[in-house]
Amino acid sequence: MFPNVDEVLIPHSKLYKNAALGFDVIYNPYTTKFMRILKDNGIRAVNGLPMLFYQALFSYKNWFDVTFTQAQEKSVYFKLKNAVKKSTLEQEIKELDTNKNIVLVGFMGSGKTTLGKWIAKKTGRTLIDTDKEIEKRLGKTINEIFSELGEEAFRNIETEVLKDLATKKSENLVLSVGGGTPLRKENREMLKKIGYVVYLRASAKELIKRLKNDEKRPLLKNKDYVDRYELIKNLLFERDNIYIDAANFVVRTDGVYFPRIYQIILKRLLKKPYIRQNKYKNKYPRRNNGKRYFPSRRSNESFDS
Ligand code: S3P
Repeated sequence: MFPNVDEVLIPHSKLYKNAALGFDVIYNPYTTKFMRILKDNGIRAVNGLPMLFYQALFSYKNWFDVTFTQAQEKSVYFKLKNAVKKSTLEQEIKELDTNKNIVLVGFMGSGKTTLGKWIAKKTGRTLIDTDKEIEKRLGKTINEIFSELGEEAFRNIETEVLKDLATKKSENLVLSVGGGTPLRKENREMLKKIGYVVYLRASAKELIKRLKNDEKRPLLKNKDYVDRYELIKNLLFERDNIYIDAANFVVRTDGVYFPRIYQIILKRLLKKPYIRQNKYKNKYPRRNNGKRYFPSRRSNESFDS
């Protein structure tokens, strides 16, 4: 219970693995360590917010002799839930280790700059965008650097910028790097040295939507829709595994709005793993005997928990 939300009364993992349901009668913060452990084991964990809300609603309706539709009640409940989640997140931001810089990598148009600005604003960090840094150093736009000095020269300056950041041991940063930065192995190593690297993964279909009219990026300049799509598809195919290799964490961004991506990253950064994650945990939860039951692939048996 608050403020001891990162403590559990019974620290025995066996108990949590065999539970059917966990109920923590709190609403602030939204999740506690007790609930996180249960969720990590694929077990449903509920907090006290619905109880608090529906109990208050019941009294309100009786007292004022009013009625509401189910939709109205649900809508108020979700507003309350979001407000509690938001305030929990704000409290959690304070726990973020300022030594741990956040580094965003990903394809052009994956949202590194926009999300970088958002994270920097929300966490009070300084945003560094390597493309902007290069433009400042040379007094030229990226397009001009590509056409006047060539791509190789651009890549060398990119590496120089990273070297500076890695040696300076800068803190409290959000670093957004160009889409081609992780291509060099030495850059990938430096990125991990600088901070916690997050790959903002997007599909070619999504990227073409975002980049269809872009003329600022030299690799896409003067290309019609078809050539552009082909280029994005091929480059993404070549680079996807490189981005994965560069990253500590991969987050899918198709159709996910920025505040949500921000929340996912933050939760991940704050997470203190307790019990090893298991890929089968949600699909095949443990039964009362503590064993997982895997239905045979050949039979049409369905699993009931
Ligand atoms: C590039 C991506 C660009 C920029 C340059 C090259 C790339 O950055 O560094 O045009 O090779 O993918 P953004 O990813 O910020 O657009």
